[in-house]
Amino acid sequence: MHSRRALLYMPGDNWKMITKSVAIGVDSICMDMEDGTAITKKVEARATIARALRELDFGKSEKLARINSVGSGWEKDDIDAVLPYHPDGIVIPKVESFEHVEWANRIIEAAELKHGWPVNSIRVLIGVETAKGIMNLKEIAAHPRLDGIIFGGEDFAASIGATRTKEATELLYARQAVVVACAANDLQAIDIVTIDYKDIEALRIESEFGARLGYSGKQIIHPAQVEPVQTAFTPNDEAIAHAKRIVETFEASQKEGKGAYSLDGKMIDMPLLKSAQKVLERASAAGK
Ligand code: COA
Ligand code: MG
Repeated sequence: MHSRRALLYMPGDNWKMITKSVAIGVDSICMDMEDGTAITKKVEARATIARALRELDFGKSEKLARINSVGSGWEKDDIDAVLPYHPDGIVIPKVESFEHVEWANRIIEAAELKHGWPVNSIRVLIGVETAKGIMNLKEIAAHPRLDGIIFGGEDFAASIGATRTKEATELLYARQAVVVACAANDLQAIDIVTIDYKDIEALRIESEFGARLGYSGKQIIHPAQVEPVQTAFTPNDEAIAHAKRIVETFEASQKEGKGAYSLDGKMIDMPLLKSAQKVLERASAAGK
């Protein structure tokens, strides 16, 4: 699965931002037709994203297109405009049911067959960011076309009538529900946007907290957010070295017939081995 530590949005009608984004080494580039694009620019965004998919070299960055939500009335024209140019994935916002994902799955599969592309070569990421979406998370997250779930903090706060705070305690229940649903279905979990994009220290704190919750990546909206987010979602050298030591010493202790043992004065047993393996998996996914 493509590593998606930092997923950068830009309005789909903004050719300048799109061309800028392909040169900054961001993991995923998400050209938006939804809320980042003005209602008067939806048609232009479709054409601009199609042109970008045709003409630009995205290098190692993943090319994603975010359509408008299912039921908005724009979604079919959005997806039809970009699929012929084979984006790496489609992002569907405000998903509230399994059927929303299945709607896109049917259209994508038909396009894959029509163009002779491998089935499932176009991946799907979804935003779960409304009260209904969180209530139906269990069914939604089980859809086999999915690679990951994006938690939209601002949309979710609006959906439940919460007031956003810097600490984001008002989001915690839903933010954790998304991580759990992702872990249960082997999906990537992509965390909230830090909208105060000039405050890099706040971004760093929020990213590290998201990583501690179990998120594998974060949505971003500005090039200055790429590096801090990639760093926060890549295990550091110290964490990698510690994880390697746990894996090595665990094996030896099993051979001695001990399930639990002591390392640097702390108890190690199976759950700590599993955590260490997750750290190593994420490090290797990030190319470390
Ligand atoms: N992707 C690519 N390039 C971006 C970018 C983005 N999301 N945001 C800013 N840039 C570029 C600008 O074009 C500018 O390029 P230049 O130096 O070549 O002129 C440079 O980065 C610096 O931008 P800056 O002046 O600091 O920001 P801004 O005032 O132009 O824009 C925002 C601020 C928030 C309006 C803008 O970052 C943005 O639109 N972000 C995406 C919003 C979005 O898509 N929201 C929906 C999903 S949540
Ligand atoms: Mg949103």
